[in-house]
Amino acid sequence: EGQWVLMATGRSPTNIAVIKYWGKRDEALILPVNDSISVTLDPDHLSATTTVAVSPSFPSDRMWLNGKEISLSGGRFQSCLREIRKRACEFEDEKTGIKIKKEDWEKLHVHIASYNNFPTAAGLASSAAGFACLVFTLGKLMNVKEDYGELSSIARQGSGSACRSLYGGFVKWCMGKKDDGSDSFAVQLADETHWNDLVIIIAVVSSKQKETSSTSGMRDTVETSPLLQYRAQTVVPSRVLKMEEAIKNQDFESFAKVTCADSNQFHAVCLDTSPPIFYMNDTSHRIISLVEKWNHSEGTPQVAYTFDAGPNAVLIARNRKTAALLLQKLMYYFPPQDKDLSSYLVGDKLILGD
Ligand code: PMV
Repeated sequence: EGQWVLMATGRSPTNIAVIKYWGKRDEALILPVNDSISVTLDPDHLSATTTVAVSPSFPSDRMWLNGKEISLSGGRFQSCLREIRKRACEFEDEKTGIKIKKEDWEKLHVHIASYNNFPTAAGLASSAAGFACLVFTLGKLMNVKEDYGELSSIARQGSGSACRSLYGGFVKWCMGKKDDGSDSFAVQLADETHWNDLVIIIAVVSSKQKETSSTSGMRDTVETSPLLQYRAQTVVPSRVLKMEEAIKNQDFESFAKVTCADSNQFHAVCLDTSPPIFYMNDTSHRIISLVEKWNHSEGTPQVAYTFDAGPNAVLIARNRKTAALLLQKLMYYFPPQDKDLSSYLVGDKLILGD
């Protein structure tokens, strides 16, 4: 009695938005001011792996991130734990005789161990993979029967962008209309086998942690930027339609144009915030120029760029050949020994020298 431990393990990749989420209409529930669309990365490169364990011998909920204990007292962790526990179902194992009734889950404590397969401090979205994985794995452990859409809506309450990591491929986070957030969840637009030609290269411009967290940055933008309203109400809705079409038809020209324009507008609303928020640096700007010049000289886009709340460039090449060329250009203009540009992370599909 009391000697057993039940465990579950899961893995979730991070995702990169091509139509950005920036701005909340409800901070507690994490409800956005616009829809967003992302590409989920290959789990071999940027992902979180989480093991959750439950045992009558655990006196409290605890969590370790990359081997270091972190506090679970924050509202976001508590929301995820509460929402999953609410949906827990009876578990019975005939071999061991372990039986956990629905109401028992409320009293049992969990231990959570999560690892990122990339440096946490690299300024690469780690909360998206982390919260998606936490919710998914807790759901598995607690025999939760809800579908991925429902789970995405729980992950959303951990970190907005996390709701998009429940699915592979191309994913849309529908902002929803309701005040309770029940219609704000992610849907898959196309799975990971769709548009296999694309290769994603992440140029790590700086591995320093970002200066302005997305939470406080978004709050400041919502409160002070006159541009944000225009973006959310007028620009994004038509871009979302264009992006959905581009993805469906594998139309790289349209995909690249919308992706780059939306990244630039996201950084424009950051600049339009008071005080202004600067996420990109000179190296980021030089990478944008390199891609813009190249795309222009080819007459049709070869590479799309997008930047999140930091200076690192996410570059999406139209195919393997273009990706190899892109990597050559990056190596030439930004040699990796350059202290500014410390490394390149290359998507799964590219084999160098191939
Ligand atoms: O989910 P958060 O709070 O980390 O916000 C993510 C915001 C961006 O990465 C800049 C854009 C996005 O849609 O992922």
